[in-house]
Amino acid sequence: MKTVAFIGGGSFGTALSTVLAGKGCRINMYDIDQDHLARMAADMENKDYLPGVKLTGDYHFCKTNEEALKDAEFIVFALPAQHVRSAIKAAVPYIREDAIVTCISKGLEQKTHKRMSEVIGEYFDLDRYVCMSGPSHAEELGIGVPTVVAMSSKKEESAIALAELLSTNKFRVYLNDDMQGMELAASLKNVLAVGSGIANGAGYGDNTLAAMLTIGCAEATALGVVMGARPSTFFGLAGIGDMIVTCTSIHSRNFRCGRLIGQGKKPEDAIKEIGMVSEGMYTAEVVHELAEQTGVEMPIFNAIYDVINGNITVKDAMDDLMLRPIGYERDYL
Ligand SMILES: NC(=O)c1ccc[n+]([C@@H]2O[C@H](COP(=O)([O-])OP(=O)(O)OC[C@H]3O[C@@H](n4cnc5c(N)ncnc54)[C@H](O)[C@@H]3O)[C@@H](O)[C@H]2O)c1
Repeated sequence: MKTVAFIGGGSFGTALSTVLAGKGCRINMYDIDQDHLARMAADMENKDYLPGVKLTGDYHFCKTNEEALKDAEFIVFALPAQHVRSAIKAAVPYIREDAIVTCISKGLEQKTHKRMSEVIGEYFDLDRYVCMSGPSHAEELGIGVPTVVAMSSKKEESAIALAELLSTNKFRVYLNDDMQGMELAASLKNVLAVGSGIANGAGYGDNTLAAMLTIGCAEATALGVVMGARPSTFFGLAGIGDMIVTCTSIHSRNFRCGRLIGQGKKPEDAIKEIGMVSEGMYTAEVVHELAEQTGVEMPIFNAIYDVINGNITVKDAMDDLMLRPIGYERDYL
């Protein structure tokens, strides 16, 4: 049976580990927060990030990167996007020459604007790297709700190997050869999820939310296309699929964080109250900078950024969006 190392034992790492533990894999779990990992080992449950999901199988909770990685054939980086650089840098010396690496973080690096594969590619051979993304709340994956994701790799064999490792009657994988599009779509939808939460918290209705997601998806696609992605990816699992699940569900911490802001909480207080990383709050700034650099018109994303940063009230942002000049819907196909 295969050994799989998880770098990051938060919500998603834990949920995905249950799929593999259920197939008999050995799970080596490492987390920089060793107190959290010790609690997890003692409880055989991740009460901090995924309460209610009992961990059964061949779990090993590791004190170092080396201990987790040295025998691992597959490695999953499962931590917030802004920590991926330091994590891969620390891990690389211990990764086996034939190991396949994936990273499930959904975000763009602040300052560099880099996608996760660009960050990882600075330290690791991308032929053995697989991007995985799609509608997959940890809370549901962890209790065996049928879940479908997409995977992309420079080398198809790597994606197929990981897809075969993970496939069960509860977990299905599609391949996609547009890694850039998948990474951008996944990151951008987190910003829309914060925006959906803001609209919900401020009391706007289903009409508003549906319009915001439709037009937001068009804005995300426009940016992706200018950056070299395929429009169809934004209408696939990593795009609209993930957007539906993230922007309409209370399981999404981005949505919940936005909802608190929409209800009048300061962004920093909303982040504190959620108690876990809301990727969209960070990605909003990167997208704002990318929109400026590329000249892509992104009024919804910019409004979300401005509300998060206290530059405008939710009501004024909504009025501005509603009163924009009349124009045509965008056309990509
Ligand atoms: N939660 C979900 O349903 C879900 C689903 C798909 C993808 N994602 C994405 O996965 C990423 C991680 O999300 P999460 O919900 O699992 O996060 P989380 O906040 O629940 O957990 C992150 C874990 O990473 C650990 N960590 C941080 N830096 C580390 C380092 N350098 N080395 C080792 N461990 C480190 C933290 O201690 C924490 O335990 C995010 O980008 C998120 O968007 C989340």
